[in-house]
Amino acid sequence: MCGIFGCILKEGNAAPLIHSSLKRLEYRGYDSVGIATISDGKMYIKKDSGKIDEVDKIVNLDDMPGNLGIGHTRWATHGAPLKVNSHPHTDCTGEIAVVHNGIIENFMELRAELQNLGHTFVSKTDTEVMPHLIEETLKQNPNLTFQQAVLASLKRIEGSYAFAIISTREPNKIICARNESPLVLGINGKGVFCASDIPAFLEVTNKAVMINNGELVILTADGYEIRRISDNSPVTRDPIKVEWTAEMAVKQGYPHFMIKEIHEQPETLRNTLRIQDHYLDLLATFLDRANEVFLVACGTSYHACLAASYMFSKLAFLPTYPVYASEFLEQCGKSVNIDSTLLAVSQSGETADTIGAVSCAQQRAATVLSLTNVIGSTMTRISRVYIGTQAGPEIGVAATKTFTSQLSVLAQLALKLAKKRGKISQDEIDCLEENLKKMPDDVETIVRTQEEKIKQIAKKYVDSKVFFFLGRGISTATAFEGRLKLMEIAYIPSIAFPAGESKHGPISLIEDGFPVVFICPRDDTHKTVIGNIMEMKARGAHIIAVVEEGDKEIESLADDFIEVPKGIPSILSPIPFAVPLQLLAYYTALEKGYNPDMPRNLAKSVTVK
Ligand code: F6R
Repeated sequence: MCGIFGCILKEGNAAPLIHSSLKRLEYRGYDSVGIATISDGKMYIKKDSGKIDEVDKIVNLDDMPGNLGIGHTRWATHGAPLKVNSHPHTDCTGEIAVVHNGIIENFMELRAELQNLGHTFVSKTDTEVMPHLIEETLKQNPNLTFQQAVLASLKRIEGSYAFAIISTREPNKIICARNESPLVLGINGKGVFCASDIPAFLEVTNKAVMINNGELVILTADGYEIRRISDNSPVTRDPIKVEWTAEMAVKQGYPHFMIKEIHEQPETLRNTLRIQDHYLDLLATFLDRANEVFLVACGTSYHACLAASYMFSKLAFLPTYPVYASEFLEQCGKSVNIDSTLLAVSQSGETADTIGAVSCAQQRAATVLSLTNVIGSTMTRISRVYIGTQAGPEIGVAATKTFTSQLSVLAQLALKLAKKRGKISQDEIDCLEENLKKMPDDVETIVRTQEEKIKQIAKKYVDSKVFFFLGRGISTATAFEGRLKLMEIAYIPSIAFPAGESKHGPISLIEDGFPVVFICPRDDTHKTVIGNIMEMKARGAHIIAVVEEGDKEIESLADDFIEVPKGIPSILSPIPFAVPLQLLAYYTALEKGYNPDMPRNLAKSVTVK
């Protein structure tokens, strides 16, 4: 995620406003912070890793000269949260400073090219290529203006970005650009502002100008000019008046972080598709060599592991053992050895049980790999190799966007391993990759078309004393996750089983009106699932089915149904099928009058065993 802010004031120093605005963007990232200002043609930079207040205590962020500047609050994606990786990043001469939110996909090629031309890189970030690219463009074309050089450089960048860039060569302007990452301008009589989100400047103005993908903006003390990156043509756009309060603005108008984060999933899933191939390749190489692989996690992350065990088995023919981290020592501790590999999955990277399992594996010389959303967390420090899940900070206590991001990364990893092992055909791999690319749009469709319906279903079943969640195959993991979401935020006792297991005991609970949620992708389990639905119906259960669009067979049996787009491959189905269950939990909690962002007795990061 990350937050960026820039401002040019007609009077006074910019740094105190940049500092306070970054504080309001801290929910977008908080592992490092930095500010660059220009005064009398000279660049000033202060930056370090740590929360804004911590860094401010040491460097005094307000004490910087200049009426113009840019700032950044970071959520690491490339490079650990260290001072050297904090933004702003500069070129070799220190004349150009850049802050960035997004992921530059082709940074490795650009970096190599620029290094060959003599540029020195100091950080591990993708962002650092941008100031060097501008510097090189100006070197090769000395007649270009700063704006023209930025424009030419942007054309070489692939990936997502919101940039704010300043240069001592033209010290009276900020140039911004947007592709996929959010960017918005604010204006008042005293200055102009650019930011990742409206809350950053809401204290000083409620006049905002939305910037679209593919646009470049030139800010000066007198105003703003928007141009299309593709052809440099001008764009006219007037400011709008924002009616949000500061609190609403942080949630971008959503009443809760949980629903905001559910809606963010198309974007976060797109980000997972930008993970550098060599990280996946490295992890897949370790998995390929392992004698046995344990997938270790807690809660929602464990459900991602459970789904991954089906992915690895079906795509790469690799049997893996999903284990609750809290049980790892007792269940597997003695058998772990130098030939074992442990893939730990943790949103926070700090969960005590998961860290405990990792330590146990390390003591026994096993290889530790991990997947986490927090680069710089304990997990990243103690793993041999890790991958970031690219979901940005998750503030709602219930995991939503981080679950689907974990699934997307695990699916990519399983595909990478499948390629290595040659176990499935190239056609099958291509088809799955195409479907993964389509997933952000599929999730967008689900939220757009099903949310209203799910609200009604939540209303209808809100007084149920207990819920069942059933699925077969990989949908077992989806069912487990649906149950956990409903239980933890709506406090309705819920039960989840592989559908086939339900008749070995749990079915005795069923009586008239008992709600049973069935997860029904159109895969090899479809026919058997219909049998399980019939068994439940025969005992009076009310069936809520999550089905593929147009699945008339199951729709005709269900009391209520929720549709996901057609043609989702079984192995990827937990991603879209989990989304309606997140919404069901959210709206049920609202119906019951609970705050879904802060379920009782729970914490976002569980750091005790
Ligand atoms: C459920 C939830 C928890 C976490 C669990 C593990 O919505 O958020 O079950 O999944 O505490 O946390 P991480 O993934 O941070 O290790």
